[in-house]
Amino acid sequence: MENEVENIKFLDLVRGALSVDDLEQARISLLGKKGEITNLMRSLGQMDVKERKVKSPQYNRLKQTLEQAIKEKRDTLLKKEIEARMDAEWLDISQDPREMNTGLVHPVSRVTEEIVSIFSDLGFSVAEGPQIESDWYNFDSLNIPPDHPARQEFDTFYINPDDNGRSENVSPNVLRTHTSPVQVRFMEKHGAPCRIIAPGRVYRSDYDLTHTPMFHQIEGLAIGEGISMSNLKWVLVEFCKAFFELDSIDLRFRASHFPFTEPSAEVDIRCSWVANSLVVGKGDDWMEILGSGMVHPNVLEAANVDSTKFQGFAFGMGIDRLAMLKYGMPDLRSFFDNDIRWLKHYGFAAEKSSNLYDKLSG
Ligand code: DAH
Repeated sequence: MENEVENIKFLDLVRGALSVDDLEQARISLLGKKGEITNLMRSLGQMDVKERKVKSPQYNRLKQTLEQAIKEKRDTLLKKEIEARMDAEWLDISQDPREMNTGLVHPVSRVTEEIVSIFSDLGFSVAEGPQIESDWYNFDSLNIPPDHPARQEFDTFYINPDDNGRSENVSPNVLRTHTSPVQVRFMEKHGAPCRIIAPGRVYRSDYDLTHTPMFHQIEGLAIGEGISMSNLKWVLVEFCKAFFELDSIDLRFRASHFPFTEPSAEVDIRCSWVANSLVVGKGDDWMEILGSGMVHPNVLEAANVDSTKFQGFAFGMGIDRLAMLKYGMPDLRSFFDNDIRWLKHYGFAAEKSSNLYDKLSG
């Protein structure tokens, strides 16, 4: 019958397709809206019943055969195309990989994390305060009135100075010279009892081997009803053992003076110099590491804490200085030079330091 020849022609069209695109063209020309098979199906409507009874099953079979053939052909063509692509695109895994620049953690960040982690184990939480600070918080509230000689010792950067170069009437008006103002801010807001540390940047107009105009401090504060100097000593001994990774440690509490503590003590750690490098923990030398004392009642009152009921200790230490001691970095200025060679040498792999974060949050 005429259809046999026709059918083979349709099938050849499908089977002869050379690509998936080709095949799609063939499918449209047969089964698309205006395709030949679609037209045949449409012509059934014009036939009389008798003819339709004969043709309808034929056309439907033809349509199914073609649909099946198209599907099979598409699978074969797709497979071929993938094989061709795999032959054309290939990866030379023997080539050296491109150099990757992984960032490193700055020693200051690393040491801050270490310190925070140790104190959080001891039950201290982290507090923060602004770096641009008012005279009141940076000095007055800490028992350092305007004419106090301690103000001169701080080499303060004043902001918006008035005609006299001072700025008593403008607020905020200094770059904070220490993290101690966070003590007052925290107690004012949260009251007592409390146990916090406050790490952060501080600023003083000073520049040499061990001083930079911006550096980092960490403040500690523990206020309660019955906190004494011996609690301070225990906390600091535990901290130093953990920080310097030593089983026992010798600390020397040396009487000192800070306006915001009474009594006050500077703390030295036993150390020695071996072949020009510092060994912490043994020897006959002492290295000063922090200032501390019992918080002055005036400071508690400035923060609206009842000094007849509460007392406690505070301490402040230089983070950069602790980093220099622990990791043997001789010049503080290079910390902030942004010299990539320095960072590569002294930086820490991020992975190790993020473990500390895990410890913190865990
Ligand atoms: N704020 C002092 C400084 O920057 C350090 C300090 C000493 C902080 C004694 C304290 C403290 O909390 O009790 O030199």
